[in-house]
Amino acid sequence: MSVSFEVMDGVALAAIDRPPVNAIDASIRAGVRDAVKKAAADPHVKALVIACRGRTFLSGADLSELGAEIQPPGYRETLDAIETSPKLVIAALHGTALGGGLELAMACHYRCATPSARMGMPEITLGILPGAGGTQRLPRLIGARAALEMMVSGAPITADRALELRLIDEVVGDDPIAGGLAYARRLIAAGATPRRTRDVAVSAELSEAEIAGVLEAAARALKGRTTQHDLVKLVRAAVQTPFDRGLDLEADLSAASLKTNESLALRHVFFAERECARIPGVAEPPSALPIRRAAVIGAGTMGGGIAIALADAGVSVTLVEVGKEALDKGLAGIRATYDGSLKRGRITKDALDERMGLIRGAVGLEAAADVDLVIEAVFEDMALKQSILKKLDAITPKHAVLASNTSSLSVTELGAATARPEQVIGLHFFSPANVMRLLEIVRGERTSLQTIATGLALGKALRKVGVVVGDGFGFVGNRMMLDGYFREAELMLLQGVAPERIDDVMENFGFAMGPNRVNDMAGVDVGTKVRIELAKRERRAPPYHVVSDALTPLGRLGQKVGKGVYRYEPGDRTARHDPEVDALIAKLAKEYGVAQRAVSDAEIEERCVLSLVNVGADILNEGLAYRAS
Ligand code: NAI
Repeated sequence: MSVSFEVMDGVALAAIDRPPVNAIDASIRAGVRDAVKKAAADPHVKALVIACRGRTFLSGADLSELGAEIQPPGYRETLDAIETSPKLVIAALHGTALGGGLELAMACHYRCATPSARMGMPEITLGILPGAGGTQRLPRLIGARAALEMMVSGAPITADRALELRLIDEVVGDDPIAGGLAYARRLIAAGATPRRTRDVAVSAELSEAEIAGVLEAAARALKGRTTQHDLVKLVRAAVQTPFDRGLDLEADLSAASLKTNESLALRHVFFAERECARIPGVAEPPSALPIRRAAVIGAGTMGGGIAIALADAGVSVTLVEVGKEALDKGLAGIRATYDGSLKRGRITKDALDERMGLIRGAVGLEAAADVDLVIEAVFEDMALKQSILKKLDAITPKHAVLASNTSSLSVTELGAATARPEQVIGLHFFSPANVMRLLEIVRGERTSLQTIATGLALGKALRKVGVVVGDGFGFVGNRMMLDGYFREAELMLLQGVAPERIDDVMENFGFAMGPNRVNDMAGVDVGTKVRIELAKRERRAPPYHVVSDALTPLGRLGQKVGKGVYRYEPGDRTARHDPEVDALIAKLAKEYGVAQRAVSDAEIEERCVLSLVNVGADILNEGLAYRAS
């Protein structure tokens, strides 16, 4: 039974217990509905408290029910029973009351919460709409504008903020059950009566300017998305139409939202991310090695970002360089990144000091002697990396994991330079390493399961999405990009398509940045260096990336030097068309016999996206990724 029922001195308690996160399923809905009935039927009961055991209040709908035929009782029936109950019904929240969980709480007559509780309506992050009355009850409780804001952002709010907004009525102690029961007794003593959210008139009208303001604030996150417009419709309905009509509209739009490409794609990503830490065939992975101290070798673009990512997770880091000058430059870069975060209000001064305090600079590999993990991020050069790993193998403790941030070299070959290949792994961060969420965990032929488990645990600690990938050229991300997406984008340049057209089409499609702008941001030379190493192992037929590989020797390395595929004005990152590059491309097209032709926007999009799909399929066939998602 997910829901227990007991009566204590005139107050009934429905305690929900469905580990791990009290996701709502039919058993919870039935249990709550029955508790409401029992409380109503018992003349001694004056109030019913609905609370959860475990680490959180109802965290939302059980996602396995999404889009499936829902087992009765439904949400509407259950929440109706709560709201129309003749006895007081009080929700006592703790942990994270999200989505359907918060919707259930809003159907209760009163709400209290522990100080650390958070409440949110995150449906939009999955491209779906609330379907259990949330869009109609939230505006009635906190006003139309605040409700729209909360549902459009999808971000949870704190108990204090919820109290301010009157989403909850009281903040109680840390124990939700004790707090809820005590609050119920206070309400009874004060003569409180059932207060039905459905009967509240929405306090504020919603002006067009307010709507525009809310949408504008979320515009970046919601680029190319449509769910927010349905939320506007529903909040308008809450303001203008009777409650039940609003619920009907919500039911229609919510059901429709489950079928949109937008929600199918976002849900795919959600489940894919949940799945990716699982290694097929390994039911119980060995426990990860705890990482308390780490060293990062190389304080360049990547080394600096990796050091920040580690310090942000509370790991103490020794950052190693060849000379003082490079080290100082690297440390100054880290400082500047943190100062930027401070200026933008993303961290406090104390946090900045604490994190900077975790990073220690040093010259010479000897400084990396006493650590649990080393991540090397020196130049992309097999011989150099092997010699560094060999030295590290000699000086680091036996248990230490030796990782490489290589973007293209064989982790198996790197491991062979050491006497502990099973403890050698690729940890492939993406630039900027402290920001980008993807972390490829590259499994060499001899990498042990414990080392992989350590990589996965580290990824989690750094709040990244760690994906185990095989040891092939470019692993998964770069291979798909270089052999698919960017290769096709470069071919289109040769066919006479302007770089900004390709970028604009892909940005409209939903990518944060088009391929040419990415190339300039990352550094045109970075890809060229990768391809020089690749050519030593495998051949790709021209005109494979001939544009970038012609820009590199001309010193057009991208934003960092003010010119690449585009040109830049000093101090300005706006990519500007450069006729010089047109001339270079025209010359290359002639040289490689690429015919000039018109390419439609639809073709640009298809060639970029389908090439990713095709290379992805190859990668899957080659066994370099565990699963398509
Ligand atoms: P970078 O050129 O900015 O930095 C490399 C740093 O390593 C330099 O500061 C250099 O002084 C230092 N270094 C060289 N030899 C050393 C030694 N023996 N001991 C200590 N430090 C030494 O290069 P970047 O871009 O940071 O790349 C580093 C690695 O990360 C490469 O393997 C690269 O392929 C990989 N990578 C780069 C990405 C990018 O977008 N830049 C993305 C993902 C991986």
